Amino acid sequence: MPDRPNVLVTRPIMEAPLARLQERCDVTVHENEFGIPREELLQVISGRDAIVTMLTEQVDAGFLAAAGSQLKIVANHAVGFDNVDIAACTEAGVLATNTPDVLTETTADTAFALIMAAARRVGEGERFLRAGTPWIWGPLMMLGQDVHHKTIGIVGFGRIGQAVARRARGFGMRVVYSDAVQLPSEVERETGAERLDLPDLLAQADVVSIHTNLTPETRHLFDAEAFRTMKPTAVIVNTSRGPVIDESALADALEAGEIFAAGLDVFEREPEVEGRLLKLENAVVIPHLGSATVDTRNAMGEVVVDNVFAALDGERPPTLLNPDAFGG
Ligand code: DGY
Repeated sequence: MPDRPNVLVTRPIMEAPLARLQERCDVTVHENEFGIPREELLQVISGRDAIVTMLTEQVDAGFLAAAGSQLKIVANHAVGFDNVDIAACTEAGVLATNTPDVLTETTADTAFALIMAAARRVGEGERFLRAGTPWIWGPLMMLGQDVHHKTIGIVGFGRIGQAVARRARGFGMRVVYSDAVQLPSEVERETGAERLDLPDLLAQADVVSIHTNLTPETRHLFDAEAFRTMKPTAVIVNTSRGPVIDESALADALEAGEIFAAGLDVFEREPEVEGRLLKLENAVVIPHLGSATVDTRNAMGEVVVDNVFAALDGERPPTLLNPDAFGG
């Protein structure tokens, strides 16, 4: 390997981790605020020792072929890695990493912000005032749904789902979860959570918060039938990945009053948002801000750099996703 490894970062990252990377490597940062179009990406990745990718880039066999044999690591600047074909990376002998843990609490905060905003009509109230609408306090004005002491159903009970459960306990909520696996009893005790099948969870929950990975099994897990199973007073929030919800079915359910409101941080065809959702007062939409705080983006950048340096040193990266590519 050359003295100074060649690293591509596909979008500007926080200054401190970038400076640490630059101390040791020749770093190219792609500055286009809308990311690198695929064609261009394939042209700029060859001859790199490491590539820092974003969730907006597909790391697949075509990407790995274009990158070539010098590539040691794809360090994804996100905890979610549905954009990375892990098997293809392993096949190509390329290490793949993500940024778990450091964004857990921040993303749980975002989920709770959306829960509160959707249940209590915060976005709608703000738009109402900003539009200069005449008003005076009234007992029937803009009534929402309570969150405290209600039932929250958490779909996907990993790190972030559990962090949401801890917040919900502070609101006096009953916590139920659905997950492919039954969590250890210590986790259930600490979070006060009870496992239910998804249909039971949907029927009982006043708030549904989605924290599952995007896989072929979870794509459109929330379809028209799921919304019909939910309470008409229920709020649904998604801070995981957009395609877990069938956005058109969600818009139908919100329009028809089958559910009360939705809070969305992620979208099915991101960055595009289903046009009907943008017109609905009972949809709160924010642009994938789940982990977007100064501290957390710094921490994510540091994890990325730790992973890159480990790979360059022939060591096992701290948050390796494909141990088989490292010899198990
Ligand atoms: C992730 O890390 O997967 C989030 O969606 C973005 O921070």
